[in-house]
Amino acid sequence: MTNPISGRGRGQGKTILFGEHAVVYGCPALACALDRGAVATVTAAEHRPLRISHPHGVIDDSPELQTALDALFAVFDARADQWSIDITIDIPVGVGLGSSAAMAVAVARALADAMDLDGEDTSQRIARAAAASEAAVHGTPSGIDQTAAMGEGLFLFQRPADGEAPRITPLKSAPSSWVIARVAPPSSTANMVAGVAALHHAQPQLCDKLFEAIADLTHRGARALTDHRLDEVGQLMNLNQGLLNALGTSTPRLEEACQRARDAGALGAKLTGAGGGGCIIALAAPDHISSIVQALEPMGDVFNAGLPPGQERP
Ligand code: PMV
Repeated sequence: MTNPISGRGRGQGKTILFGEHAVVYGCPALACALDRGAVATVTAAEHRPLRISHPHGVIDDSPELQTALDALFAVFDARADQWSIDITIDIPVGVGLGSSAAMAVAVARALADAMDLDGEDTSQRIARAAAASEAAVHGTPSGIDQTAAMGEGLFLFQRPADGEAPRITPLKSAPSSWVIARVAPPSSTANMVAGVAALHHAQPQLCDKLFEAIADLTHRGARALTDHRLDEVGQLMNLNQGLLNALGTSTPRLEEACQRARDAGALGAKLTGAGGGGCIIALAAPDHISSIVQALEPMGDVFNAGLPPGQERP
């Protein structure tokens, strides 16, 4: 008996250090791929219901997921209902850490592996497939999540408003210590992006000024991080958090978590991702990781402590 055609692929999660939401309007954002994410296996077979396992349980097949997978498989001229798909995710889902893009890249890579495709054309096809899947889930994604999911490390990302290809600038972070904590239940990225769009529609000039300020602090934050001016990075994170709150994407619980982290020795703290719930990220002052972890643990799960975002685990 011949082995069934199958393939395996991986996609990484991400954390946004500066610039979420503004990035949807053409501003730069600074993000970092995490060393964790999703692993997918695809096998050419009779379709069976998709099941996705993740740290907090199992996600069953849903019409939304099927639409995303159909869009992804179509880029490979394939049909999702002719493959069985298994996905394991090792990051919290729906809390701003890019789980859906990690899944999409993992499945697209697994499919490319099963079809024996490689080379530059294939990477572009994987990126297009992940973008199609993300668009089905999120509506108008900036593309930052799937860029990180492909494993870009620390990078500045900007998608020009005219629909041209995004500009991706890889950067090298100075040594630094971070804490990421999931302190509130998930929110829908599509709803949060729609909320900002509604505010932008009502107050276009004011919102554009907020986006400009976020773009400015993102550039400053990227320079300060690469030059190891960590006090300044923290200050800029706090400013970014204030502007995210002004855009309606923070919540009292996220504010409380940021304040707890700062009181416990964080140089700065902000929500990361779409907001409305989910995670915060804090930059720890030297020797303050454990006090920040202690301050945040009563509010939820501390997901990643100590490692610079994106740094490989030993
Ligand atoms: O919550 P996440 O992981 O989907 O991150 C969303 C980031 C946004 O800037 C809010 C949206 C986007 O597409 O860039």
